[in-house]
Amino acid sequence: MESIIKAVDLKKRYTLGKDNFVDALRGTSLEVPKGEMTAIMGPSGSGKSTLMHLLGTLDRPDSGEVWLSGRRIDQMKSGDLTTVRSEELGFIFQGFNLIPTLTALENVSLAGEYAGTGRGKAKDAARGALERVGLGDRIAHRPSELSGGQQQRVAIARAIVNEPHVVFGDEPTGDLDTATSDEIMTMMREINKSSGTTFLLVSHNPEVAEACDRVVHMRDGLIVDDVKN
Ligand SMILES: Nc1ncnc2c1ncn2[C@@H]1O[C@H](COP(=O)(O)OP(=O)(O)OP(=O)(O)O)[C@@H](O)[C@H]1O
Ligand SMILES: [Mg+2]
Repeated sequence: MESIIKAVDLKKRYTLGKDNFVDALRGTSLEVPKGEMTAIMGPSGSGKSTLMHLLGTLDRPDSGEVWLSGRRIDQMKSGDLTTVRSEELGFIFQGFNLIPTLTALENVSLAGEYAGTGRGKAKDAARGALERVGLGDRIAHRPSELSGGQQQRVAIARAIVNEPHVVFGDEPTGDLDTATSDEIMTMMREINKSSGTTFLLVSHNPEVAEACDRVVHMRDGLIVDDVKN
């Protein structure tokens, strides 16, 4: 199957001062086929978020290659990366990262507007995405007027509103109780199945890993295990 994500020998060192550095990635390679739902697990500090940031164009490797849909992106100009990011990628974070002063509808339509969709169309798409995550009756609520699970569903709607090829999640269920976490996982799985969207989820939660097609384990900046469910 065609790989939508391909990482080759990625290295990333964070330098904090003279003789003070962390090798967060020490030569990591990974290929993800289109439509796969993958969990990345591993101890704290093993490089999971760093890897996700490099694959998601949020940061650049020191060396190695990142390919997305057959294009090499690690050396692309920042402006082009912004376009790739807003049109082809979606992100879901542990803390939801919604804008507190905006309604659910405004939070989601903003992502469409950033990607260049006109305001009216972006609003329609946002309404559709919110309906898809079961929040059609909460579009006028601000984040503080929604439960944690509902806020994360808004974040999912925002991540999928531009019909991205890949959705990245860094601990997307980290702030949620078990029942809500299951609900969010089921929802992402449904989107993955119905739209063929590729998901790459960093998680400490074994239930998230279990619901994925594949589990990649990291340790000390390297992939040490890679199993299909
Ligand atoms: N901006 C940064 N500057 C300096 N060091 C960093 C930076 N970001 C991460 N690190 C270091 O790089 C290593 C890998 O960090 P990373 O955030 O990728 O780990 P992680 O696997 O996501 O951990 P966690 O499960 O705790 O989120 C850690 O040792 C961390 O301290
Ligand atoms: Mg992390």
